[in-house]
Amino acid sequence: MNKYKILKGKLTQYHQEHLLSFFHQLKPGEQEKLLEQIEGIDLQEMEVASRQFTSHRIQQQAKITPIDYESMPHLSKTRRKKLEECGLERIKAGKVAVLLLAGGQGTRLGHDGPKGTVSLGDSSDQSLFALQAKRLRAVEEKAGAKIPWYIMTSPSNDDETKAFFTKNDYFQCDPKQIYFFQQELIPTITSAGKMILESQSEISMAPNGNGGLFSSMKSSGVWDDLQEKEIDWVFLNNIDNALVQVADPLFIGFAEESGAEISSKAVRKRSPDEKVGLLCLANGRPSVVEYSELDAKEVIDQMLINANMGIHLFHITFLEKAINSSLPYHFAHKVIPLIDEYGQHVQVNSPNGYKLEKFYFDVFPLAEKMSVLQVEREKEFAPVKQKTGEDSLESARKRLFKNTKA
Ligand code: UTP
Repeated sequence: MNKYKILKGKLTQYHQEHLLSFFHQLKPGEQEKLLEQIEGIDLQEMEVASRQFTSHRIQQQAKITPIDYESMPHLSKTRRKKLEECGLERIKAGKVAVLLLAGGQGTRLGHDGPKGTVSLGDSSDQSLFALQAKRLRAVEEKAGAKIPWYIMTSPSNDDETKAFFTKNDYFQCDPKQIYFFQQELIPTITSAGKMILESQSEISMAPNGNGGLFSSMKSSGVWDDLQEKEIDWVFLNNIDNALVQVADPLFIGFAEESGAEISSKAVRKRSPDEKVGLLCLANGRPSVVEYSELDAKEVIDQMLINANMGIHLFHITFLEKAINSSLPYHFAHKVIPLIDEYGQHVQVNSPNGYKLEKFYFDVFPLAEKMSVLQVEREKEFAPVKQKTGEDSLESARKRLFKNTKA
């Protein structure tokens, strides 16, 4: 039996045979490419994900309670010094690595290219990638040791990201300390769970969310590398915070001292209805709860004030559990370019389909304990989510400029 027949049979079994509707109108090269794309899709996983989608609304509510935290401004000078020394010692001993999440599409910002290439000033020296590299080098200098830097991209932005690093001479980092690895893509779906055709010969795909991190660490060899290097702590951060203190030694000392498997930095929530995830306990386990899952009253009642900044230290024992676990999918309602049943491109102006995303923090309940350090928003948090307004390129520029002047 030829490849077409086998795949058609499989697709029919999973009610996705529409993907081959235009097959016979395609050129031989396009036919081959489409069959290859279908072969690369885990149809069973898609089926499970679609089922999660339809049962999404009837999930059981967990009991949400606040999590203990310490506040940076309240730490004494002596304690800060002690924590920082401890962190620097861990770095010097080669026990710390940094992992940057840079696989997102940054659709809200609408920048042409990977988000890390956005500049806060007028040159690539002040791009988000450059700022993080500069801070990493400053810590390395203080500790007198190199820190391995793992950067997660996606097939949609990997080439451009690498080219940006090469063009900018790796921002004076040692190219040997940087390891790029890619997360996976997954098909987008309609509300009926059907995969979407972006053209007659191509299935619409999107990165599988930052929670794709764990399976990709395993498949790319990052996990083996961490073990070979005998790393104890992985510092995880987002690409979009212009003020992130990469590999902050004080925070590493804090994590080490707390004995928790995860340590997270937080900022105080601006208002009960701020659209941000909250660090908390869910049924007594470490968690991040999304703003969409809580109402403002619950936030006040529960005194949930620690907003997730996407800055964490993962102990290797926690990572081992994380890479062997499977995460659920979340469904992001988005504008997805597609064709109609006649094979014509459709003009889409409002969300018409769903991207399937895993969130890295869905594995947090596997940790025995999470310690939280609340830091000052003005000093450490300037996320670039959109061009103007709150959490924007504009507001991040202002905060960064204020901090460099201070
Ligand atoms: P966001 O949730 O802000 O998503 O990512 P985004 O893709 O950057 O922006 P929008 O929602 O499309 O506007 C938070 C962090 O998670 C990473 C991002 O690169 C950012 O560092 N991320 C997100 C990934 O690494 N992979 C993904 O699939 C999604």
